[in-house]
Amino acid sequence: MSTVSQTSTSSPLDRKVAVVTGGSRGIGLSIAEALLAAGASVVITGRDQAQLDRARSHLGAGTGAPVAAVDGSVATAADASRMIQAAVDRFGGLDVLVNNAGVGIFNSVAAMSTEQWDSVIGTNLTGVFHCCHAAVPHLLRRGGGWIINISSLASKNPFSGGAAYCASKAALNAFSESLMQEVRHDNIRVSYVMPGSVSTGFGGRGQAGEEDWKLAPDDVAEVVMDLLRHPARSLPSRVELRPSRPNK
Ligand SMILES: NC(=O)c1ccc[n+]([C@@H]2O[C@H](COP(=O)([O-])OP(=O)(O)OC[C@H]3O[C@@H](n4cnc5c(N)ncnc54)[C@H](OP(=O)(O)O)[C@@H]3O)[C@@H](O)[C@H]2O)c1
Repeated sequence: MSTVSQTSTSSPLDRKVAVVTGGSRGIGLSIAEALLAAGASVVITGRDQAQLDRARSHLGAGTGAPVAAVDGSVATAADASRMIQAAVDRFGGLDVLVNNAGVGIFNSVAAMSTEQWDSVIGTNLTGVFHCCHAAVPHLLRRGGGWIINISSLASKNPFSGGAAYCASKAALNAFSESLMQEVRHDNIRVSYVMPGSVSTGFGGRGQAGEEDWKLAPDDVAEVVMDLLRHPARSLPSRVELRPSRPNK
């Protein structure tokens, strides 16, 4: 992770307001860092307050960086609405929503509990609905904006033990494409990014930075920033991002 530094040059993200769900670590923290460096104000969210506090201080909240943190679960409609409202109250509106929060619980269908299923679908799919539902009226009020959903290549490459996760991300892709068609004429651009393996602690699979063939969280953040900087007349609505040399 690079150190956050605010840029003084004018950028399309200058003074924009962004919410990054699950911005307390991993890919979301890298996206929050990149947005701040491009001049945006950023609200990060997560359920663990201690992790949010560490992320806020990493992002420079104590030294004047325009960053706020809101705890809560995207799986709960009231929490999602509170996260979006916090951006509006603190920074005056909303321009960018990055739906990044996600959980990976990998289990066979026979062994998976209803609670595990609900957690995966509730976070990765219903949570995105809750955040978009709360955010779209604010984006419309600004005359447009961006919604970027972090999906996964698991959405199109299902695997054993991934029934809940792969289904949640496949449904997220369909949700994203429907929403894109709903709001594109209102100048709201919806894209989804499907990364392959990223080096984070996601799903309890090892520690961040452990395997260097994997994508880094910053690689995903760079794609998100490319999407946000893309010329207004075109919309890259779906991006696949792979490690260039995966383990054989
Ligand atoms: N790592 C990969 O290989 C990979 C590959 C493709 C796609 N992705 C996707 O990328 C996204 C980020 O993954 P990551 O690897 O950065 O995972 P991570 O390091 O585990 O971070 C997940 C983030 O989401 C938050 N979160 C989880 N459940 C939440 C909820 N219900 N409400 C609010 N925040 C919640 C976590 O904070 P709390 O736990 O404190 O809530 C944390 O900030 C996920 O959507 C994942 O599916 C990851």
